[in-house]
Amino acid sequence: MTIITGATKVHGLFGTPVAYSLSPVIFNRTFQKLGLDRTYVPFDVPTENLKDAVEAARVLSFAGFNVTMPHKTAIVELLDVIDRSAERAGAVNTVARTPRGLSGHNTDGEGAFRALKAYGFNPNGKRILVIGAGGAARSIVDRMSREKNDVRILNRTLAKARSIADATGGHGRVTFGELTRKNLEGRLRESDLIVNTTPVQTPSLIQQLGVPISALDGNAWVFDLAYDRVLEPLPGVVRVSPLEMLVQQAALSFEVWSRKPAPFQIMRSVLVDFLGRDWK
Ligand code: ATR
Repeated sequence: MTIITGATKVHGLFGTPVAYSLSPVIFNRTFQKLGLDRTYVPFDVPTENLKDAVEAARVLSFAGFNVTMPHKTAIVELLDVIDRSAERAGAVNTVARTPRGLSGHNTDGEGAFRALKAYGFNPNGKRILVIGAGGAARSIVDRMSREKNDVRILNRTLAKARSIADATGGHGRVTFGELTRKNLEGRLRESDLIVNTTPVQTPSLIQQLGVPISALDGNAWVFDLAYDRVLEPLPGVVRVSPLEMLVQQAALSFEVWSRKPAPFQIMRSVLVDFLGRDWK
């Protein structure tokens, strides 16, 4: 057990709920293994307290913190500096303390990109279907559109899909449509990768919309972002685990805070040991 002293650097996580987050496990065990004098504490912060929590992080000299649901968008205007990743996403999930004040970053897009690569999927020259059009989708579409991908966004609320497609600056093609049975079925058959950013896992979502499961003919990879439950079975389909993205994002946060390459393999093995299983 690390002894906390007056010199210990404090990191935090602001969100609600945070009780089931795996980030404290990844960071604290990694700090311990590397003998780093840092600690990572989750704080349950309701929406009305976000402003005070950010002020607290300032005056208590937090060395950096993560932000999760539901604060990723609201925190943007409470920070001093926003980097390009956060600006493009319109959302922040990592905050660093810098000489210029609190600086906001977004690792969703890069975390998803690296997770796919870790599985051997190269997101370049691919047909990618992104389901949902919230903060995570915005960041991921932006990252994917900076490679030569053909990205299609399908969302329940059409205007949100349009707003993402309009804002992406990459040279890839980005189109959008409404999440309907017909649109989903057609795109499932034509995609190399499905990134589902909604809280409903792909097998359930497909069923709810009345699309036959055979529309997923085994050629497309499926990447469900929600990690707080067991993956619903989808026989014959390659799945990318959101746990891989979680570790990639933790590594990116580590790099933002320490300005050094992250000990990725240690961070990954810490989570594998804690869960008692690998996810790949
Ligand atoms: P995140 O920051 O994780 O992306 P979010 O901003 O709340 O989360 O976005 C969630 C996305 O999932 C939204 O696009 C939402 O659709 P709407 O834009 O129409 O609200 C989508 N979503 C949530 N529940 C859904 C459901 N039951 N079926 C389909 N889409 C759903």
